[in-house]
Amino acid sequence: MNIFLTGCTGLVGGELLVRLSKREDVKKIYCLIRAQSHQDAVARLHKVFDVHEDHYDAKKIIPVVGNLFDDHLTEQLVENKHLHDIHTVIHSAANTSFSRVNDTLVEKANVGGLEKVLLWAKTLPTLQTFLYIGTATICGKDIRDRIVQEVESPNTKVNHVVKYTYTKMRGEMLIHKHLPDEKVFIARPSIIMGDSRAIMPRSPVILWAMATINHLRLMPVNEFSKLDIVPMDYTAKAIIGLLFAKRKYHTYHISAGKASTTANQLAKTLSDYFDDLPPFKFVEKSMLKHIKLWTKNKLHEGDELYQYQDYLDYWEEVFEGKSNLRILFTGLDPYLEFMELGQVFDNSRLLEDLPEIGNSEPAHEYIAKSMHYVEKLDILEGAIDP
Ligand SMILES: NC(=O)c1ccc[n+]([C@@H]2O[C@H](COP(=O)([O-])OP(=O)(O)OC[C@H]3O[C@@H](n4cnc5c(N)ncnc54)[C@H](OP(=O)(O)O)[C@@H]3O)[C@@H](O)[C@H]2O)c1
Repeated sequence: MNIFLTGCTGLVGGELLVRLSKREDVKKIYCLIRAQSHQDAVARLHKVFDVHEDHYDAKKIIPVVGNLFDDHLTEQLVENKHLHDIHTVIHSAANTSFSRVNDTLVEKANVGGLEKVLLWAKTLPTLQTFLYIGTATICGKDIRDRIVQEVESPNTKVNHVVKYTYTKMRGEMLIHKHLPDEKVFIARPSIIMGDSRAIMPRSPVILWAMATINHLRLMPVNEFSKLDIVPMDYTAKAIIGLLFAKRKYHTYHISAGKASTTANQLAKTLSDYFDDLPPFKFVEKSMLKHIKLWTKNKLHEGDELYQYQDYLDYWEEVFEGKSNLRILFTGLDPYLEFMELGQVFDNSRLLEDLPEIGNSEPAHEYIAKSMHYVEKLDILEGAIDP
């Protein structure tokens, strides 16, 4: 099998690349990669393998320098003779920013960029599978506190927490527009956080939110809302397992399902390791507004937030002033909104077609192995572009 992979320098694409490169039934992996030159692209690929000291096979892994923003990307791929016998396209590249300032770029990458890849892929006579790394969160924010099924999305009527999930929904619709069902495989991971192996997680994204919550300790979020979180290694195993399995469906949640966790359970894991920080205190989501006003010195005297004065004093001391807290809470905002939704993504399709994978380990259990990495994260740096 020859594969064309996008997003190989990212969290998901990187893990897929390393695992696919170890398979004997995969002959070549062509990687679309942003780079100044071929040499620079090779250097970026090396970095992907260096994270966990995996072997980089230069004969098998071939960089294709390119950018989803390039107006001529489709033509560039069509004209590349090496890409004529691709059997599987894996599209993992995306702009995953939750920040509103990036909305235009997010749409350009996730909708416009995908369409350029699709317009090329549909010309391939050898194409068997177009694997799109989607997201379960395309179901939007109107569903609360229940199990979500794959068939509920895409639904253009739903509201979204961030532009990113909206563009990922549009992406799925584009795929169905351009390709017949039998060539489509959509894997929709829920929330990928860390790794269940005792190794350095490939990316700090999402772990940043957990590290921030750990430092803040006073949290305006429902501690009992279900959180569907999966580790990177499980996600990659599930996606590759399904890629090579006989699939009955074209869309699969890659999710924790019954093994979902809660903020309360994650807090216990954090408290066990960081036992010198104040105890966790969860308050109503509506308190976020009060916190934001307090960071701007605009909270009126006698406000109910002052009953947590101990935490406010602790914040001022640890975060050296209120402006850093403003940055942190702005970055955390969409995460808090996702955390309140209580969405659990049904994983029975995955378990039916890949029974050997079983449920993932609950996040509050496996993440205990990553606490020393959580400790090292620079939460202010991460808050700038969550
Ligand atoms: N992480 C999660 O929790 C999660 C959960 C559910 C679904 N997903 C889905 O999984 C997929 C991968 O996400 P991720 O977490 O791996 O994201 P990521 O770590 O941010 O990686 C994004 C990848 O896309 C590439 N990319 C971005 N813009 C590009 C452009 N203009 N041209 C070419 N390549 C570009 C990046 O390349 P550069 O290195 O050059 O920037 C990088 O390789 C996404 O489609 C996302 O929707 C992720």
